[in-house]
Amino acid sequence: MSRIDSKAFRKKITTAEEAAKLIKHGTNVGFSGFTGAGYPKETPVALAKLISEAHGRGEEFMIGCFTGASTAPELDGALAEVDGISFRMPYQSDPIMRTKINAGISDYCDIHLSHSGPQTWAGTLGKLDTAVIEVTGITADGQLIPSSSVGNNTTWIEAADQVILEVNSWQSIDLHGMHDIYEGVALPPNRVPIPLTHPGDRIGSTTMRIDPKKVVAVIETDAEDRNTPFKPLDDESRMIAGHLLDFLTNEVKQGRLPKNLLPLQSGVGNIANAVLAGLLEGPFENLTSYTEVIQDGMVDLLDSGKMEIASATAFSLSPEYAHKMNDNAADYRNKIILRPQDISNHPEMIRRLGVIACNGMIEADMYGNVNSTHIMGSKMQNGIGGSGDFTRNAYISTFVTPSTAKGGAISAIVPMVSHHDHTEHDVQVIITEQGLADLRGLSPQKRAKVIIENCAHPAYKPMLQEYYDHSVKVANSQHTPHDLHQALSWHARFLDTGTMARS
Ligand code: COA
Repeated sequence: MSRIDSKAFRKKITTAEEAAKLIKHGTNVGFSGFTGAGYPKETPVALAKLISEAHGRGEEFMIGCFTGASTAPELDGALAEVDGISFRMPYQSDPIMRTKINAGISDYCDIHLSHSGPQTWAGTLGKLDTAVIEVTGITADGQLIPSSSVGNNTTWIEAADQVILEVNSWQSIDLHGMHDIYEGVALPPNRVPIPLTHPGDRIGSTTMRIDPKKVVAVIETDAEDRNTPFKPLDDESRMIAGHLLDFLTNEVKQGRLPKNLLPLQSGVGNIANAVLAGLLEGPFENLTSYTEVIQDGMVDLLDSGKMEIASATAFSLSPEYAHKMNDNAADYRNKIILRPQDISNHPEMIRRLGVIACNGMIEADMYGNVNSTHIMGSKMQNGIGGSGDFTRNAYISTFVTPSTAKGGAISAIVPMVSHHDHTEHDVQVIITEQGLADLRGLSPQKRAKVIIENCAHPAYKPMLQEYYDHSVKVANSQHTPHDLHQALSWHARFLDTGTMARS
């Protein structure tokens, strides 16, 4: 049965192939999609085919690709594969997209997710020509029922000259009612306080408005969201989760956190999911979450009754859990709220609610600076995503990582990060399977001691300690001791030998 109840929109039904022809070389396209949820599944593939054919004829054809965050092979993968993306923002994690960025084929503008909407409104990212948005359905009065992610959709719909809609009947129609679309975020000087004081507050509508004149094509699909399954929990991630739980338990004991903690934010990836699994076995009840994505672990917490409400902008569920969500969306919509990313990642909300943030990282240095984005200083991995929005504004900001990468060949604790995303001023707690470093209230030299002692892998502790002792001497005990020659050669040593431990 058609999900398009509006006659005016039904008249615009066409194929993805026809819709893709409306997108031209050199234009910017705002796609829906946030992780593998709610991205358009057909138009990008059809567009990639047109691009490939144009290249075959020796014609130029590239677009600017704006999204909520990362997407899936049918979007980032398909368009990057044919060298169709000249400009990408604000976050990606597709292996082909990553290769094109690091090969210099696609320019990547890695910005905070909370900045992507406002910078589009302000026009600093260029003009947005087309929006391609997946929705769950269209109501009789022409309102759009959002899909499994909201992301930047309202911004794209508002800013673009033309809009292509993909109505996906694979998404449960019971998602209707789960969303809270608040459009009161403006550019300065017209900003007003966002009237949200609890993760469960609803302050907007359940559907998205659209000017029907902008809609140039409507496509009907029933294609599945494509998220990667989480890795099974391993000992390392269990240990990391255990350290965080002990820390939170102590914070409650010290009277610094309420018994049900504060709203939790959980970053992308397996370790963050493992932390949620740890909470399932932990002592905390009546939890809430104010975060970016809902992962499997969060669904388990909701199911168990340990978590009361989860607010996010998208799902990031394994295929098994995505099906479960679809089958039970009518129940989950009482416990889950999906909002535009302007709101889910808004610094005002994160600060007001006192969010406890937990994000993954690539490496941290002994003074507490964190690199979330670059391998060996040069190679882009994914992007900063929402980690900056949350870390800087959290009540307690934590970072988690195994203490080594590449099978133990490289230490995740280093003298000086090879790329800088989160400064020592924003990072409060660092956790590896080895232990936890609570950096609050510590000077740089005390931070170095606790990070090396608690977080570094035993194979790297002597090297880090040696560097630190040497730096204290060379820098004459100045505030943040470094020997820049040695600090900068730390990573180079890995590049030369393939391992730090052997050098
Ligand atoms: N040095 C060299 N390589 C490293 C490394 C290090 N210190 N740490 C990790 N890597 C490599 C891994 O070996 C892996 O390489 P591979 O793909 O060739 O196997 C790759 O980096 C990814 O590491 P992995 O352990 O699989 O990452 P993850 O899934 O735990 O994610 C981040 C870690 C940092 C990449 C991820 O959390 C991220 O993208 N963060 C930024 C965005 C963010 O935090 N968003 C959430 C906000 S709500």
